[in-house]
Amino acid sequence: MRIGSLEFGRYPLFLAPMEDVSDPPFRILCKRYGADLLYTEFISSGGLLYDAKDSLQKLDIYEEERPVGIQLFGGDVEQVREAVSVVDRANPDLIDINFGCPVRKVVCKDGGAGILRNLPKMLQITEAVIERATRPVTVKTRLGWNDDSIRIIEVARMLEEAGIAALAVHARTRSQMYRGDARWEWLRRIREEGVRDIPLIGNGDATDPVRIRDMFAETGVDAVMIGRGAIGNPWIFRETKVWLETGEKMDPPGWEERLAVVAEHLALKCEWLGERKGVLEMRRHYGGYFKGFRNAGLLRAALMEQDTMQDTLETLLNFEESAPYARVPVRSLASRRKVAARPVLPRTVRGVSVESLSGAPARSSAGSTQ
Ligand SMILES: Cc1cc2nc3c(=O)[nH]c(=O)nc-3n(C[C@H](O)[C@H](O)[C@H](O)COP(=O)(O)O)c2cc1C
Repeated sequence: MRIGSLEFGRYPLFLAPMEDVSDPPFRILCKRYGADLLYTEFISSGGLLYDAKDSLQKLDIYEEERPVGIQLFGGDVEQVREAVSVVDRANPDLIDINFGCPVRKVVCKDGGAGILRNLPKMLQITEAVIERATRPVTVKTRLGWNDDSIRIIEVARMLEEAGIAALAVHARTRSQMYRGDARWEWLRRIREEGVRDIPLIGNGDATDPVRIRDMFAETGVDAVMIGRGAIGNPWIFRETKVWLETGEKMDPPGWEERLAVVAEHLALKCEWLGERKGVLEMRRHYGGYFKGFRNAGLLRAALMEQDTMQDTLETLLNFEESAPYARVPVRSLASRRKVAARPVLPRTVRGVSVESLSGAPARSSAGSTQ
């Protein structure tokens, strides 16, 4: 299958755009383990135009990640159009428009899934991006705003006609947020009745190799986009490829490989975001990285308590899966809530108050001045 001039093999696996997750450190790891296309976190078009540091930082991509798509969001046609020129300068392989984010503060300004209530404007934004961009434009969206307004077939046709190069659909409505099952039956319908010549990328609950194979088989999508299944689990791409090609289940990585990957991920995160933010953001990955291992909960709890990269690394590397109790640092006293503040005692040197030595009147106990 192709997106513009990008050529993919038979069962392409894409890393989903995920805020605070799909950054360069994580993308580099997913690429190493076989992801065929990586998306950045969503980036605010307003943020790019107003030089917001966070938004501009998200434009950074590295050669070894290619092909990579930068995802843009915004509900103001002119603002999005202008932001495309900024994104173009970052030289991604494609630009993706986010029409799927369900978060209130985004949808209330017609951003993300909010635009599913205003299809003429969705078309205007898409046309503006295509007109301004010098590379393929893709769209990621949801089935509709709610169950009473599932208009994805119409949306697919409209956007293909406008000239997008591929459509990714998270098979839930905005009202579903992340609840309930993704409705894969809609992916099949979009494949059959919606898009004609452009690839359809399926997304939603394709969380392990078996589910991913099932999504390909049951829906006929051209590629599968993996989100939560990759968090703390970048090797999902490698395992799925082996499963799809040979029908064999590959053993997940052992303890040593995991430790090495987590340590690398942490170091890259800290380099990318600064130590404090890097250490904090890594916390969402630990559950996945150590899932199923003996005493994983204990290690995770210990990692969650660390504030510096060095302490986190030490906690990680000193942990022995089989005999953790001896070596995992216990919770420090400083992290426990004290019952009461420590009382301030009079300062004395060999029984003489410090204040009286420095010439200040001694704060004596009752009766001593007599
Ligand atoms: C932590 C997190 C952050 C996300 N951020 C974005 C985002 O920036 N842009 C976007 O289009 N979707 C975002 N999503 C949605 C995912 O891309 C994906 O559509 C959704 O998780 C369903 O796929 P999954 O079942 O494979 O996780 C995010 C999801 C999660 C869990």
